[in-house]
Amino acid sequence: MAPVPRRLFGSFVEHLGRCVYGGIYEPGHPTADADGFRADVLALVRELGVTTVRYPGGNFVSSYRWEDGVGPVDQRPARLDLAWHSLETNAFGLDEFMRWLGKADVEPIMAVNLGTRGTAEAVDLLEYANHRGGSHFADQRRDNGTPDPYGIRLWCLGNEMDGPWQVGARTATEYGRLAAQTAKAMRRFDPDLELIACGSSHYGMPTFGTWERDVLTEAYDDVDLISLHAYYQPVDDDLPSFLASAEDMDRYIDSVTAIADSVGAIRKSTKKIMIAFDEWNVWYQSAAPSKPPSGEDWPVAPPLLEDHYSVADAVVVGGLLISLLRHSDRVTAACQAQLVNVIAPIMTEPGGSAWRQTIFHPFARTAQHARGAVLDVLRDGSTTTTDRYGEVDAVDAVSTWDESTGEMTVFLVNRVTDTPAEVTVDVSGVQVTGIIECVTVGGTDLDARNTPDGPDHAAPRANGTVQQAGAGVQLTLPPASWSMLRLRATEVTP
Ligand code: AHR
Repeated sequence: MAPVPRRLFGSFVEHLGRCVYGGIYEPGHPTADADGFRADVLALVRELGVTTVRYPGGNFVSSYRWEDGVGPVDQRPARLDLAWHSLETNAFGLDEFMRWLGKADVEPIMAVNLGTRGTAEAVDLLEYANHRGGSHFADQRRDNGTPDPYGIRLWCLGNEMDGPWQVGARTATEYGRLAAQTAKAMRRFDPDLELIACGSSHYGMPTFGTWERDVLTEAYDDVDLISLHAYYQPVDDDLPSFLASAEDMDRYIDSVTAIADSVGAIRKSTKKIMIAFDEWNVWYQSAAPSKPPSGEDWPVAPPLLEDHYSVADAVVVGGLLISLLRHSDRVTAACQAQLVNVIAPIMTEPGGSAWRQTIFHPFARTAQHARGAVLDVLRDGSTTTTDRYGEVDAVDAVSTWDESTGEMTVFLVNRVTDTPAEVTVDVSGVQVTGIIECVTVGGTDLDARNTPDGPDHAAPRANGTVQQAGAGVQLTLPPASWSMLRLRATEVTP
């Protein structure tokens, strides 16, 4: 049993497309507050139950100058954003982000630029953000209207520094040394910061494994977490493999854990490196444009990566959350990428409405009800064969137990596309005293996608099949579906 890390339900806001401009920030929008933040988006962010937000990138951070985004707005420079071929106006920067976060009531995860910049600028940013005053950058923050330090705890040391697409990409040893040096400098200011080193950009990178080993060989003693990034999409319409994407996530996490522990073992270290899965989601990488259409030269906030998610995508997102919960003894932070408009659960119309994508629902329900401790679930049932991952459990599941409320929640995915699954939840150690609710997403209309005017295709619907059976519970999971079963239970003393 491991406690459910609240940071597992993080998200990500990058200066990319319409995530910031026209997403969380749209002065002039009918719901915009005095700071220009959209109140309709803020309400959906609260409903989603996001606990942390990573900022400001992503690829964007690797050529970002944080100083451009602070101070009087009319004096901030417009800059070319080399990552997304867009014009960054800098109307929104660190102070606006922190003000927005306060309204959303979430914790920041701040990324520093280790692409075009280095240790000095990272420490300057730390001073601006976290020092009380009496020094150059801290006094700038005070002059800019924020007397109290922000106290940001969790920091990313760059982003995807192994990726050839990254401005300032490095070799593992180069990056590992830079990360270690930057971490050491940041800890001179505050030894208790929590620092994330960049792992591979994804599991399929040719340098996967050796990258983690070499980075941690340089930086093991200086960092607390290593990052993982993964995006999933159906390949060749292979729905069974897509529904089993959590298999890949499981293997990826287990592999990085093993590599980190092997570096620790060689060093005879008692310290464990934790995992920040700080970018994950479904992303149709070739579908929505990732660069402005040709002819548009350096536009401001063009619509990029605006995926429209299906019901099947929502089932996969529910399955990925099961994998993250299952590994919560090592994955102590995670960020769904991203929050608004860019591969996001929340979409906006310029000047118009904000609405929920299908993937909104499993995230919101899991963030709300995965509380207390994660329990080991022994899956003992039929298997299904996938082209990509071979034979896998037909039903994947994880459970949480909240001792303080007496609530046990089971999250389940039926990965079989044509057959319902008859499931018995056999609990030991507790006595089920009642069924609070059971809801399901999927099973039908797998290709349906939400639109601003509705209907909301993946809104969880009551699963009427659930019934108590002795000490346990029986239910039917429709094919290709995600479900959440909430039980009232009391602990049984042996
Ligand atoms: O989330 C979109 C992009 O995906 C991020 O900027 C980058 O870190 C990753 O490759």
